[in-house]
Amino acid sequence: MSRAILITGGAGFIGSNFIHYYQQKYPDQQLINVDKLTYAGSLANLTEVENNGNYQFIHGDIADMKTVAAIFKEYDIEGVIHFAAESHVDRSIHDASPFIDTNVVGTLNLLQAARADWEEKGELGERRFHHISTDEIYGSLGESGKFTEDTPYDPRNPYSSSKAGANFLVKSFGHTYGMNVIISSCSNNYGPRQHDEKLLPTIIRQALANEPIPIYGDGKNIRDWLFVEDHCRAIDMVYHQGKTMETYNVGGNNEQENITITNAVCYLLDEQRPDLLQKYRLAHFSDLITFVTDRKGHDKRYAIDASKIQRELGWQPQVDLEDGLRKTVEWYVAKWKTNVPI
Ligand SMILES: NC(=O)c1ccc[n+]([C@@H]2O[C@H](COP(=O)([O-])OP(=O)(O)OC[C@H]3O[C@@H](n4cnc5c(N)ncnc54)[C@H](O)[C@@H]3O)[C@@H](O)[C@H]2O)c1
Repeated sequence: MSRAILITGGAGFIGSNFIHYYQQKYPDQQLINVDKLTYAGSLANLTEVENNGNYQFIHGDIADMKTVAAIFKEYDIEGVIHFAAESHVDRSIHDASPFIDTNVVGTLNLLQAARADWEEKGELGERRFHHISTDEIYGSLGESGKFTEDTPYDPRNPYSSSKAGANFLVKSFGHTYGMNVIISSCSNNYGPRQHDEKLLPTIIRQALANEPIPIYGDGKNIRDWLFVEDHCRAIDMVYHQGKTMETYNVGGNNEQENITITNAVCYLLDEQRPDLLQKYRLAHFSDLITFVTDRKGHDKRYAIDASKIQRELGWQPQVDLEDGLRKTVEWYVAKWKTNVPI
């Protein structure tokens, strides 16, 4: 049995970008990707790697212990990088149950299966369980301050609560059993392969179709924006070099109001598709921006202090916001041209 890293949720946005990144950087490393292929997961995100000898896909649900245990039985899992989650806040406000099943029970199943297997192999303290978490667990900020790794958890919606619950479970397996666990918590990722319900794909899809671009409230909620490739590099570093039991915050150092991001994307679309502006008789795609009723309990501001990962592991974001947004818009515009829905 050759050793493999188990990736969960690799057909989603960040997981699929990570698999591309990782297979390019470490072509000899075997990766097993387990994904339930919910509405948010798509094998179309993985076409470039699907025939690689060192990549294997398993269609499975991490909330089902039998599935998870069978993976550890069949493969020699040397580490887990756990992305799989229900990830959309609005959906969690509508119905929290799948968030508990996947984000809490699914995480527990993975921890239990990994623990049993690694204990049996006498490598519980060596093999690594890396949990991908979010800055949303820290709650909402006022006008100043940033989340550090020591900020107490204060989740405000069912999604962030389920992710905080998962974090506590991960830490508890480190404390209780001496498992080699590690957490990275990141801010808003953007880039290629994101599901169309998220902000950037929504802006681009609506603009290209000459439809209203819906923005919650007054658009002044602030998020930190992290280009997904920068995040993938951070995960690589945390997985290989991070200290056991530690948490590392990963942020882009790019705090922006939603409306500013929206205008920036519209401006790039003006540049890239002047033909459509003319066709739709618009001066700017930003003319399509429409403010809609705010999300319930919408957190005002998230900002992340990523100085620990910079200081201890030497990571820092390499892609500035303008370049990252340009690459992102180009990617979706190219996809749209092929008539694949964004
Ligand atoms: N996207 C962001 O900006 C962001 C920010 C902070 C943290 N995160 C975290 O990063 C991780 C990945 O986020 P994403 O944006 O790629 O999410 P995503 O929604 O795009 O992808 C999630 C993937 O998990 C799979 N999945 C869901 N339930 C599953 C289950 N029960 N069993 C197996 N697979 C299942 C889905 O099919 C999908 O492929 C999540 O843990 C999320 O909480 C994301």
